[in-house]
Amino acid sequence: MKIKDYLNSDTALDSISIHGWVRTRRDSKEFSFIEMNDGSCLGNIQVIADAGMEGYEQIKEITTGAAVCVNGKLVESPGKGQRWEVQASSVELLGAAADDFPLQKKRHSDEYLRTIAHLRPRTNKFGAIFRIRSKLSHAVHQFFQARGFNWIHTPIITGADCEGAGEMFRVTTLDPENIPLENGKVDYQQDFFGKEAMLTVSGQLSVESFCQSLGNVYTFGPTFRAENSNTSRHVSEFWMIEPEMAFADLEDNMRLGEDLIRHLIRFAMNECAEDLELFAKFVDKTLMQTLENIANNDFIRLPYTEAIEILQASNTKFEFEPAWGKDLQSEHERFLTEQHFKRPVIVYDYPKDIKAFYMRLNDDGKTVAAMDVLVPSIGEIIGGSQREERHDFLLKRIKEMNFNEEDYWWYLDMRKYGTSKHAGFGLGFERLLMLLTGVSNIRDVIPFPRTPKHLEF
Ligand code: 4AD
Ligand code: MG
Repeated sequence: MKIKDYLNSDTALDSISIHGWVRTRRDSKEFSFIEMNDGSCLGNIQVIADAGMEGYEQIKEITTGAAVCVNGKLVESPGKGQRWEVQASSVELLGAAADDFPLQKKRHSDEYLRTIAHLRPRTNKFGAIFRIRSKLSHAVHQFFQARGFNWIHTPIITGADCEGAGEMFRVTTLDPENIPLENGKVDYQQDFFGKEAMLTVSGQLSVESFCQSLGNVYTFGPTFRAENSNTSRHVSEFWMIEPEMAFADLEDNMRLGEDLIRHLIRFAMNECAEDLELFAKFVDKTLMQTLENIANNDFIRLPYTEAIEILQASNTKFEFEPAWGKDLQSEHERFLTEQHFKRPVIVYDYPKDIKAFYMRLNDDGKTVAAMDVLVPSIGEIIGGSQREERHDFLLKRIKEMNFNEEDYWWYLDMRKYGTSKHAGFGLGFERLLMLLTGVSNIRDVIPFPRTPKHLEF
């Protein structure tokens, strides 16, 4: 049993044993009061150690951060704010914490805690974040499995750039001090795979082939972007949820994206209530209102062209002027969702030139069946589209983009054998966690963030 179970116990218990870490200890003449946490929940359990108890001479070493094992009884607590406490019969010091243990009682800044990312899960806030993260990953699988989607483990090492943005990390076993050259160019034939290899930016291209066989599928795994942007919403390694639906169009895709987000928000409000409360109290006072608003209202659906018109008519001074044909900047996205509509907004039918090659060309010849879901505080949380299922259209686009046609032979092949309309999207898992907790920096919702020039831990 864990502290969570003891705190929720219906009855007193005669003989219990708890392993955990000391949050604080305070002594009186006859007793020591130890606040203990084992990570099972936000709450600590209070342990009362009698000065006459076995091993009491060790008590001075039982300091904040130490690992201990407590044996004793679970008894009704006379103190305020807790139902149960532990009357210790013995307290064993398992691992002392040196005097310089950095997480003493005072409050620390998020910036400082990032420098001790190996210890920060021992704080209330980060413990809560990572419990929520775990529960939510499970909820993602439940959502899809309950709807008959198959989870596909798409590869992490790849030869194809899905987004075509060239923001990929290279995977190689070549010796950087001695790179083999052939006519002045790197000879990748001598590299591990005999060709250039990268870390994937998205599992989409691979998952599409399973969509064209197993039907509705999804990936949920790490993706990598060598994008040199130092914002509070970008990391170089993040987790993405990518469903792909067979015989589905953009409308189906929008519905799935909206259902998924609303389902996960309701799930968190029900299943992570205690941990969420911490964020509502200390991180974002409007959090519960924001979550209720998303859970209870339909998302706005807005063609890109109308989005541009709204932005242009808004009389707002943007850093980047909104114009048809240009991508929406984060300031534009946030204006639409936070100020104009005050709700999540799904913008769709973007100009083809600002979107990826695989998106289905609309009949106007200018726009593609793309969709981005925008939410308050974050902006884009989902990016997706209906896919170009017509072989000749796709080939034309690949050539227009000056891609190497041979790299996409198998992706084109799928358009030759029983091609059909299909659609999917990518939901950034960390951005979802930011939305759910009100945490404003993405580095604080992933265990060990990877960003430009930062690879500690
Ligand atoms: O819009 P993106 O680039 O879409 C794709 O990769 C598609 N292949 C997905 C698909 O259709 N299957 O990325 C999808 C989402 C974004 O909306 C954002 O939430 C997240 O992934 N994302 C990032 N999250 C954190 N750090 C980054 N650098 C991110 N880049 C994208
Ligand atoms: Mg996008």
